[in-house]
Amino acid sequence: MNFLNEVAQHYPDAISFAAGRPCEDFLDLAAVHRHLDLFAAHLREKFGGDEQRVRGTLLQYGRTKGVIHELVARHLESDEGILVDPEAVVVTVGCQEALFLTLRALRRDDRDVLLAVMPTYVGAAGAAHLADMPVLPVAQSDAGIDIDDLVAVARRAREQGLRPRACYIVPDFGNPSGISLDLDVRKRLLEAAYDIGLLLLEDNPYGLFDAGPAGNTPLPTLKSLDTGRGVVYLGSFAKTGNPGARVGYVVADQRVGTGADGGTELLADRLGELKSMLTVNTSPIAQAVIGGKLLEHDGSLRTANERERAVYRRNLRLVLDGLARRFPADRRPHVTWNRPSGGFFVVCALPFVAGDDLLAVCAREYGVLWTPMHHFYAGDEARREIRLSVSHLTPAEIETGLDRLARFVAERDT
Ligand SMILES: Cc1ncc(COP(=O)(O)O)c(C=O)c1O
Repeated sequence: MNFLNEVAQHYPDAISFAAGRPCEDFLDLAAVHRHLDLFAAHLREKFGGDEQRVRGTLLQYGRTKGVIHELVARHLESDEGILVDPEAVVVTVGCQEALFLTLRALRRDDRDVLLAVMPTYVGAAGAAHLADMPVLPVAQSDAGIDIDDLVAVARRAREQGLRPRACYIVPDFGNPSGISLDLDVRKRLLEAAYDIGLLLLEDNPYGLFDAGPAGNTPLPTLKSLDTGRGVVYLGSFAKTGNPGARVGYVVADQRVGTGADGGTELLADRLGELKSMLTVNTSPIAQAVIGGKLLEHDGSLRTANERERAVYRRNLRLVLDGLARRFPADRRPHVTWNRPSGGFFVVCALPFVAGDDLLAVCAREYGVLWTPMHHFYAGDEARREIRLSVSHLTPAEIETGLDRLARFVAERDT
């Protein structure tokens, strides 16, 4: 991904469909102060006006598993129908730390492997690499995951003496695929995971950004359907709060063995022990900024993000309609794309292989950036697919960016 950052820095005037950043229109410094104050007032009330405790909670070293765990649990109940014990929540430095802690905790020795639906989020592959856990690819299907392949990959791995510890998946508006699992697939995936004794790591940074009509009922998360503690749920406030706070979390309500005495402990506590050696605790000031936002909206980030949701819905429609206008099915260049029902990403298949070299050409000569899809696969081989991120552009930038992309594709396809 360094290469992509370099290209972006080299061509700052290029229109970027590459970065999966949230829209910046609503990143608001005044809200940071307001949310911090709200959280401080909440603590004041909780501690009966004891200012020293309020200051200590916000400014001192703090609880390893975090100080907004109860608010996170309330948010999960109100937005996702997930009921969790706040003790099972670990507030982390972004979802990235949650990923790493979880994988590090699951890894015992070099037989342990992670399964992941390919293409997969680079942050998950990176965390697995850092945790020294090889990733075995599971095939993606139009339904999001090929469950038969998941079962076969797990079985083959066990036959080879490996220990598949979990399968990583983004069931809602995946990064990079944009695909969502429908309800039936979610249920079948859970059943298959129970059957083969495999944990699911559900990563859900985009779930609130469905592009359906207002009042549309969102699909239940795997965690809300999980009756067997088979899902570790990973959350991020980067898109629903702000990425600068670097706050995420993990819900880990599984019981894990503690060794010779045969006792068990909460996986969240195990993650807390690891966290105490890594980042000690997530900045309580940053947590307070997110906590205040949760308080302001009574735990509902769906409500808090109405404006963002409207922007992402509009942008997704503009990109999908814009692609359809520029690349009619019966004409060259032959470009196809998927039609996600929400989230930040659309995947297009171009009529030629589109790797880093062509991205550099496209940035330099056409002024538009995208992400080559090969970055989300295990090998280095370039592919025809590119990922377009729709989240942080204006309508005018989308139109100009798609015009440039269309010219680039037409001129290469001769
Ligand atoms: C699938 C996925 N997980 C997690 C994250 C966010 O992680 P963090 O909270 O560390 O910013 C992203 C952001 O790009 C993502 O796409």
